[in-house]
Amino acid sequence: MAVREILPDIYWIGAIDWDRRIFDALIPLPEGTSYNAYLVSGSEKTALIDTVDPTKEFEYVCNLVKAGVESVDYIVVNHAEQDHSGSLPMAAELFPRAQIVVSEKCRDLVESLLEIPPERCLVVKDGDTISLGNKTLEFIMAPWVHWPETMLTYLQEDRVLFSCDLFGSHLATSSLFVDDMRDIYHPAKRYYGEIMMPFRSNIREHLARLSAYDIGIIAPSHGPLHRPPGPILAAYRDWISDEVRNEVVIIYVSMHGSTEKMVNHLAGALMEQNVTVRIFNLQVSDLGEIAMALVDAATVVIATPTMIFGPHPLAVNAAYITNLLRPKTKFAAVIGSFGWGGNTVEILKGMLSRLNAEMLDPVYVKGAPDSACLRNLETLADRIVEKHRENGVFTPGAG
Ligand code: FEO
Repeated sequence: MAVREILPDIYWIGAIDWDRRIFDALIPLPEGTSYNAYLVSGSEKTALIDTVDPTKEFEYVCNLVKAGVESVDYIVVNHAEQDHSGSLPMAAELFPRAQIVVSEKCRDLVESLLEIPPERCLVVKDGDTISLGNKTLEFIMAPWVHWPETMLTYLQEDRVLFSCDLFGSHLATSSLFVDDMRDIYHPAKRYYGEIMMPFRSNIREHLARLSAYDIGIIAPSHGPLHRPPGPILAAYRDWISDEVRNEVVIIYVSMHGSTEKMVNHLAGALMEQNVTVRIFNLQVSDLGEIAMALVDAATVVIATPTMIFGPHPLAVNAAYITNLLRPKTKFAAVIGSFGWGGNTVEILKGMLSRLNAEMLDPVYVKGAPDSACLRNLETLADRIVEKHRENGVFTPGAG
């Protein structure tokens, strides 16, 4: 446990989860995570910003004791997901006079998820402020980063933005601040891909609004803090833009090697034309790595054998998740092999309906890939290159 000063009278009082390896029973956390919570002591009043995952409640209480917090006026809940609000019932009990500051939707969620009585809540709207004496908290509604109730809290005098999940990264580290953007770029991009990417257009609006704020420090709910905020803001502007790269992500599963041969042939044909290819074998791939690759790629290809009558279940899962993540991918294709029939291509196409991507002609072969199939894969590679070129993402000689 640790209490760390960010600026005078502003402290990190969260918890680092070095061992956590899975989130939402789905997302791998190869580098652990942190649940950042903050203490702001004004000249007249004291506020807590978010709490921690319930598994870290003891550490959180120890930090409150260590920081000498005897009374609290406000507990700000930027987001109701339990990794930040799970210790709220305990904090509300510990500080019975504290008002719980929430957006209207968040009040409903903390009541239904955590049994917080609505009468304990102070509902704030966009632009509302609360004075702590010499410090002022301003609330910025930011729905859909990635829940509907989320808000950000801006500490005006100190120019600190408590940004909740936005700009976060699943990274357990003793560094309070990002020392070098290169250290955080991949965890932050991975986090964006897994959590934020489906809400790209909402985040674009929030970023536009934040440009009006003078921000010195971004203090997210996961991972180290950003000071100055320029590098992470620039990275987000890139990720949420409509720009894609000359990259093809191939996500595949193969049972007896036919689909894998097709994947390798397609990948070779693309690489020979200077297209960057990222291949993910679903038997061994990390979902976060796939999400990260999908952030920029112009094209995604899903490759699967037909199992009984449709796609292999691993491919079904990958297509479902790709559809949920809704990357800005502009082109998509399905390839694979079948034994005796099935509707694999139609099923997968139907599963990718949320992608705003042009479906290219599939390559599906009976049995092992023959010479005609290999030529069709080369034609698909040519088509992808042509599409990338038409869309201005193809750079001859630079994959
Ligand atoms: Fe880190 Fe959406 O909770």
